[in-house]
Amino acid sequence: MTTKTTVEIKISGEAIQAQRGETILHALWAAGMAERVKAGCDGGVCGACTVTLRYSDGRAAGTELACMKSVEDGMEVFPCAVEEDAAVAPVVNPQLPALQAAFPTLDRCTKCGSCTAACPMSIPVMDSVLRMQAGELAAVAEDFTTCIHCGLCRFVCEDKVKPHNMGLWVRRSLGMSRNFVAAKTQDAAEQEWQYLLADDRELRLQRARHFRQSGGIAP
Ligand code: SF4
Ligand code: SF4
Ligand code: FES
Repeated sequence: MTTKTTVEIKISGEAIQAQRGETILHALWAAGMAERVKAGCDGGVCGACTVTLRYSDGRAAGTELACMKSVEDGMEVFPCAVEEDAAVAPVVNPQLPALQAAFPTLDRCTKCGSCTAACPMSIPVMDSVLRMQAGELAAVAEDFTTCIHCGLCRFVCEDKVKPHNMGLWVRRSLGMSRNFVAAKTQDAAEQEWQYLLADDRELRLQRARHFRQSGGIAP
């Protein structure tokens, strides 16, 4: 008996043929449907390609990265469209009033918890929004250290609060508030990258924390 080399999947209800073993993202590209899903790294890092799935056998399904998930026969794919938003410029030495001015959506949060439940990186998103409202921005920067900017917290938020956009703004604002950035040489910057890109997750977080607090790498 020969195994079929193609499977049928549906993209928002529209059936396409895909090669067994290829990723959802590659199947969309091969079918000429690249515009249906956003993509960045094609390597599971940037979070741009988030989709929600449904399986034909009723298995529980949730959100996946289209560039990491292989197609399966009968799978239904629903791209998560996060609307475009103009970037908000960071500011030096950010305080709560600057955050409120940049993101008037901050005070809309109704504490429903959907953003925290949706986050694939287990970030306490709602708690962090409450920390933003309290002006605890250093803690917010800490919360969003592992954010991949998939946009799911924003996608599920009925009140359009935009948690990850605010988290990124806080991190950028605090980052540009250190004057060591301008004075850095190329070699020193490269050395810092290597230090921050440690393979072990816990070590990476620990180093990121130390880097943010001290503005440099460990002696
Ligand atoms: S989903 Fe929106 S309203 Fe609900 S807790 Fe998160 S930020 Fe607040
Ligand atoms: S964008 Fe939101 S849901 Fe996605 S990783 Fe960041 S905090 Fe979590
Ligand atoms: S394209 Fe970057 S995570 Fe999929």
